[in-house]
Amino acid sequence: MKIIEKIPELQRALTHARQTHKSIGLVPTMGALHAGHLALVQRAVTENDVAVVSVFVNPSQFNDKNDLKNYPRTPDADCKLLEEAGANIVFMPAVDEMYPEPDTRQFAFGALETVMEGQFRPGHFNGVAQIVSRLLTIVNPDRAYFGEKDFQQLTIIRDLVKQLNFNVDIVACPIVREADGLAMSSRNARLNPAERQAAVNISKTLNASVVRHCLVGFKPQSPVSETKSWVIKQINAVPELRVEYFDIVDGHTLQSIQEWSDTTFPVGCIAVFDGDVRLIDVVFYLA
Ligand code: PAF
Repeated sequence: MKIIEKIPELQRALTHARQTHKSIGLVPTMGALHAGHLALVQRAVTENDVAVVSVFVNPSQFNDKNDLKNYPRTPDADCKLLEEAGANIVFMPAVDEMYPEPDTRQFAFGALETVMEGQFRPGHFNGVAQIVSRLLTIVNPDRAYFGEKDFQQLTIIRDLVKQLNFNVDIVACPIVREADGLAMSSRNARLNPAERQAAVNISKTLNASVVRHCLVGFKPQSPVSETKSWVIKQINAVPELRVEYFDIVDGHTLQSIQEWSDTTFPVGCIAVFDGDVRLIDVVFYLA
């Protein structure tokens, strides 16, 4: 496994791969790797001749300076895990390498970016678009791998790829969960024992809401609003937890649905503060 810090060196390595007709898979990450990331890497390794993993904590997507400062950074452990997972190249650039000049580009994703994460983290998706477009331009992969936990990000990246005509397949990978159901996240490492115990209530409640929906779904117009308020109430009843938002949206447009019949792809998206750690999760309802 090669560890590369400079763009020209990465491009030299990839030019050689292309000339020998090798397929390239890219897994963009911000490091502090866990089993969720490794599932993406394993898929990239299986589906491509060359698997490139970028490890870069992208400052332009953090609207909160403290969040950027506290974001876990574990480069040595990351490299060890990536070597074991079979990655071929780890790209670990410094901030100056990715942004020699400030990136002033403004992307527009319409209604996709004004809801949920976009509403509570202004500028976040513009920063994601800046770094992902740079990585796709530099690496020019055949496939790029993203987790479904960041469901809104995934939808916006698909839109970005369409807008900029990148010739890449965006591969969505299922959420990887701890044994008790908590969605894996680099932020879980910041939970104290009480918060970690409380966190399980997020996925537990989302799953219970799917079961409830199935049960009440036999009624002609089972209310979406009732499911939403039930989830929020259950989670807010746990002392450590505070729901920032929970919405049930159409999985293509990300807009709230009023009736289950408004969509064939209902998705529940949630952000919860557990102490001061912000966690997100996603649940897919039956249409
Ligand atoms: O999902 C993430 O970890 C980041 O948003 C990404 C896609 C690596 C861009 O920095």
